[in-house]
Amino acid sequence: TSLQEFDLIFFGGTGDLAMRKLLPALYNRFRDSQHTQGWRIIGVARQDMSRDDYLNLVNEHCRQFIPHGEFDAVAWTAFTAHLEYLKLDGLLADDYAELARRLQHSTDRVRVFYLSTAASLFAQICQNLSAAGLVTPQTRVVLEKPLGRDRASSFEINEAVGKIFEERQIFRIDHYLGKETVQNLIALRFGNSIFEPLWRRSNIQDVQITIAETVGVEGRGEYYDRYGALRDMVQNHLLQLLCILAMEPPSSIDPDAVRDEKLKVLRALKPITMDAIKTKTVRGQYRAGAIDGKAVPGYLNEDGIPADSSTETFVAIKAELENWRWSGVPFYLRTGKRMQERVAEIVINFRPVPHAILPVSASEGNRLVIRLQPDEEVMLYLMVKVPGAEMKVRPVDLNLDFKQEFKTRQWDAYERLLMDAILGKLTLFMRRDELDAAWRWIDPIRDGWDALGEPPKGYAAGTWGPTAASTLITRDGFTWREDG
Ligand code: BG6
Repeated sequence: TSLQEFDLIFFGGTGDLAMRKLLPALYNRFRDSQHTQGWRIIGVARQDMSRDDYLNLVNEHCRQFIPHGEFDAVAWTAFTAHLEYLKLDGLLADDYAELARRLQHSTDRVRVFYLSTAASLFAQICQNLSAAGLVTPQTRVVLEKPLGRDRASSFEINEAVGKIFEERQIFRIDHYLGKETVQNLIALRFGNSIFEPLWRRSNIQDVQITIAETVGVEGRGEYYDRYGALRDMVQNHLLQLLCILAMEPPSSIDPDAVRDEKLKVLRALKPITMDAIKTKTVRGQYRAGAIDGKAVPGYLNEDGIPADSSTETFVAIKAELENWRWSGVPFYLRTGKRMQERVAEIVINFRPVPHAILPVSASEGNRLVIRLQPDEEVMLYLMVKVPGAEMKVRPVDLNLDFKQEFKTRQWDAYERLLMDAILGKLTLFMRRDELDAAWRWIDPIRDGWDALGEPPKGYAAGTWGPTAASTLITRDGFTWREDG
């Protein structure tokens, strides 16, 4: 994809996301396409600083997130020549006059406002942009997650943004949708004919979606403690993966065709009612422990975390879909910080053979693993005879390792999504009704936990979470992949 002419304005331009992900992603796109003209990036934040100060900050903080092999000093200098800085308080209408002045000569260009501030500011920022005459037909707004803390607050934000921007201009980002293997899941399902007949309750026994991280709250304590794992990860990333996995084949790859199908999945989620909250959900909080042999503190001892916090850093949920394709198939969702390994993967366990003539244990069926992290891989486990006189079988994987197969560098999720926003491609962004349906399922879980009033279950850092997370799945006769 080549770049077209655009102005990209980052609210939160000095923030963690801009430095860690957004600017490195743009640098990579710039370097690969060598597109030199007709675009600029304006970092916007409240700090008073000059353009030089900003460039120093970017050089200091952002460069370290560009892997050594990808750094090219000439390209970097050329890239930063496109960067500007503007001091602006998003809430002050008067501050927008200078932004308007900077943009006055490029009114017919694509204009992208990327809001990576607290979602509670989105409404006011959009109103101020509009009042300053900055919203042109070619303008798009990108909204970072989490969009609200619950269904009601998300409704309010969407309502306010929707008064200024049309839905086709609103890009609600979930960076998991930009990950290469998620694209590959779509390719696997809809580019091959062999999977579709198997992709249903008659052949699939259970599905596990895990996003385990080894990091803790990493200086984001204040934000994290207000949100917790359910809102930070499940409401968005895990549910989006579930949607792509479980949706009916859309009639095309057009944004609404895909999003209509995802919406149906979210609407088919069986509500988790109060009587099921204890058996179908587990919330945990990490205690002190060790990651890769190095001692790490517990959540309550992290910076910015109140000593009596009951915010969860781990969630496991048994989700179910009420439709013909998936009725009776459990989808176990799990995510946590400070877990044993950094791994994000989808595991699809097929049913065992109906009648065993070979010595295969009942729990060993075929398995498809779609791995997003740390490496991008697709593994299909088949039963194979072990060489020798005896008829012994065991699972062996057909492994597609993308790094091996395609020697090219993988795009980061933000590279793809930023380019899509600039190009106006909405397929990988969430539509308003999807978000609403996701919150509609999440809110009762949160309410259930509140009503229950139990603290989250402790787990030592460097483990797979509280023991209750194992019980959640063994109760149904299954095991998590690392145990099975
Ligand atoms: C973010 C969450 O959306 O995703 C973080 O806010 C989390 O808490 C991150 O660490 C994980 O993303 P990735 O791409 O590193 O798996």
